[in-house]
Amino acid sequence: MEKIAVLDSGGQYCHLIARKVRELGVYAEILPLGTTPKKLARYSGVIISGGPSSVFDKASPQPKPSLFGLPIPMLGICYGHQLMAQHLEGKLERGNANEYGRADLRVRHEHPLFLELPLRQRVWMSHGDHVTKLPPGFETLGDTRQCSVAAMGDLRRHYYGLQFHPEVIHTAYGAEILRNFLLRVCRCRMDWHPEDSVVKIFDKIRRTVKGRRVLFFLSGGVDSTVAYALTVKAIGPENVHGVYVDTGFMRLDETREIQEAFSHLGYGRVDVVAARGQFLSGLRDVVDPEKKRQIIGRLFVDVQEQVVEREEFGGHDWILGQGTIYPDRIESGASSNSAVIKTHHNRVDSITKLIEQGRILEPLEDFYKDEVRKLGRVLGLPDALVWRHPFPGPGLAIRCLCTRSTSKVQADAGIDGLAKAAGYRGFLLPIRSVGVQGDSRSYAKLTVLHGGPLDFRSLLPLATAITNKHPQTNRVVLALAPKRWRPGEWTVCRATLTRKRISLLQEADRIVTRFLHGQGLYGRIWQCPVVLVPLSRSGGETIALRPVTSVDGMTAEAAQIPGAKMTELARQLMALNGVDAVLYDLSHKPPSTIEWE
Ligand code: XMP
Repeated sequence: MEKIAVLDSGGQYCHLIARKVRELGVYAEILPLGTTPKKLARYSGVIISGGPSSVFDKASPQPKPSLFGLPIPMLGICYGHQLMAQHLEGKLERGNANEYGRADLRVRHEHPLFLELPLRQRVWMSHGDHVTKLPPGFETLGDTRQCSVAAMGDLRRHYYGLQFHPEVIHTAYGAEILRNFLLRVCRCRMDWHPEDSVVKIFDKIRRTVKGRRVLFFLSGGVDSTVAYALTVKAIGPENVHGVYVDTGFMRLDETREIQEAFSHLGYGRVDVVAARGQFLSGLRDVVDPEKKRQIIGRLFVDVQEQVVEREEFGGHDWILGQGTIYPDRIESGASSNSAVIKTHHNRVDSITKLIEQGRILEPLEDFYKDEVRKLGRVLGLPDALVWRHPFPGPGLAIRCLCTRSTSKVQADAGIDGLAKAAGYRGFLLPIRSVGVQGDSRSYAKLTVLHGGPLDFRSLLPLATAITNKHPQTNRVVLALAPKRWRPGEWTVCRATLTRKRISLLQEADRIVTRFLHGQGLYGRIWQCPVVLVPLSRSGGETIALRPVTSVDGMTAEAAQIPGAKMTELARQLMALNGVDAVLYDLSHKPPSTIEWE
């Protein structure tokens, strides 16, 4: 199979590129920018991603100097384009005016890269530095009003650079440009169909397992289910032991539903380990979200060790199976330039040790979520499992926000001013949640807007303006119920993880999930985390809804569910005993993450 290497210059851009390339039917792998040319010589082409750095910074990520001598086609995107110019003796200038957003590209050279595409096309830019003088052997293929070298190429060596981002949907013909690069420049066959990989995955499983038994912890989510199903089919149910840990942080009735689903599938025995007490007491008084994740990760491993010690595994050499997928692996630092935003619970220390000992099986480690779903369909898994919304390993524990101190909510003139200009009112809430800003983790306060309708046309730009202008906040919500607030009436209350709070969240989550199914909305969104926020007016708490659309969870947009439907859902949630308010999250990712934590 032909492969394209996507070199990671930092940020999340490389995933978008690799996914796009795979969608176009060519297998792509993400590799560190410093990968040796010797290794890269095995690929049909190299794409160098964009990234947040400037080539003028001393510490900017750099490729091996001999990269730009490789006799294979190469495409630099944004920072990758600039690196190409820098290393091949072109000239660059540090940008004074950043070019950000939409631009009109004028194609100056009818080249196979732009084959059958209009000579003027909309592209998406995000850069400060720019190329001012072409490297020897290159010619300008396209320009924009602000950027004289928006596309360049050395037609003899098949090296190309694009200042704009073909991988984002805002570039009108981005997919076509990438397809032309793959097909006409790299001359790749479009032969990547994830569904065809099943036999290869079976082989890989057998080679990794080497006659040992596999212990699989199942979450009921699509990744672990597909990984488990593949393993059962590869080595037989008698060699796979499925265990489902009931942490108490799952959805209502989830444990029973999962047991039933697996027994219907005939995939051998799946044991349920009841560990509610252990998890809840381990998290008593823990309010920091990262600590929660670390503790949950450790508790999972403790439970896992207890399971292993039990008799049926005594005497058997075993390895651990996991449903880790490609972005999990890259986000946890597999590629050198990606920052750790959150600790993934399948990459805590003890798991890393098992990896070092060669005792981990991760059949899906090279696949994206949409590809995992295709594999699930090939394996004949039911649609309800394959199309399930993602649910994080630590479950509702991270959707139940905790705080150590009680504080009154106060007005904020700056935020209220911005909100008023758009016909709303707004204040800042002393409750923090995780976000991702400039490719790093943020942990900042929440902005609540109220007093106006769920009108996305005014609310979405307002939310962006607020998070851009006020870095102390990374998330903006609209109050669905009550509609008008007096900030002084509300209190952020001390709250930890308790059974009572988790039960309330489970009830709310069930109402939301049923509602989404009932309204035909479930399949139209990526996910809708339901979050419990310790914000109280009359002794209750607040429910926040986080419906998002996304293709891979790496970036996301606030889903635009019509106001009338949300009013009805808010009414149902307000009828729950202990709910004082319902909020609708308007933030994109970035700057917010999908989960609040
Ligand atoms: P964030 O919150 O980082 O989430 O924007 C991106 C996607 O990842 C899911 N997620 C997880 N999935 N284990 C998982 O299997 C985890 O620890 C975890 N944390 C977040 C999240 O639900 C979203 O789909």
